[in-house]
Amino acid sequence: MEIIETERLILRPFRQGDQQAMFDSWTSDEQVAKWCRWYTHKDISDTEALLEMYLNEAENGFPYRWAITLKGADKPIGCIDVVGMDEKESFCEIGYVISRKLWGKGLMTETVRAVTEELFRCGFKKVIAACKTDNIGSRRVMEKSGMTFAAEGVYQEKFGSDKTIPVFYYEIKR
Ligand SMILES: CC(C)(COP(=O)(O)OP(=O)(O)OC[C@H]1O[C@@H](n2cnc3c(N)ncnc32)[C@H](O)[C@@H]1OP(=O)(O)O)[C@@H](O)C(=O)NCCC(=O)NCCS
Repeated sequence: MEIIETERLILRPFRQGDQQAMFDSWTSDEQVAKWCRWYTHKDISDTEALLEMYLNEAENGFPYRWAITLKGADKPIGCIDVVGMDEKESFCEIGYVISRKLWGKGLMTETVRAVTEELFRCGFKKVIAACKTDNIGSRRVMEKSGMTFAAEGVYQEKFGSDKTIPVFYYEIKR
């Protein structure tokens, strides 16, 4: 995977030792998890297992996941990754999350803009993302990143759950 530099951020691979920053910044925060398909982590061991999965996937050649870090502070404050793709159709779906302490500073917009550019450079022709219909912040991020509303749909609410919820899909094409 490519390390991506933006004005304020370095987007880099996850590495051993990142679990505490991940836990402190987002995985243990239920106000963050409520918008995502994973359950709040109750214990650092949950995040260790997630990081282990990330590292295994990277080792097996999955290149589309970045730890978001602030320049000058090498700790992950968030994550952005490809959560689904259709390589034949050249499109992929991204998901993203950032520490609640840092919401509203334009950091995710900066991240999504840079990552969509990188995904186009990698050969994808379309990048999509989905959010719960009441996730105003995520919708604004997508709009400010140049994505446009594509469709209403439904999504599995949580990994491992049977419940579906309404979502809005956004897309950007190249
Ligand atoms: C959604 C999320 C990624 C936004 O990240 P962020 O870094 O705060 O976003 P930005 O600062 O780039 O905000 C972009 C715009 O959205 C607005 N915005 C962000 N959060 C908002 C909120 N909760 N309510 C209303 N507007 C919001 C910002 O004000 C900004 O608009 P403006 O420039 O017109 O003021 C972040 O809140 C988050 O991690 N939420 C939990 C996980 C999540 O929802 N992930 C996406 C799942 S689909």
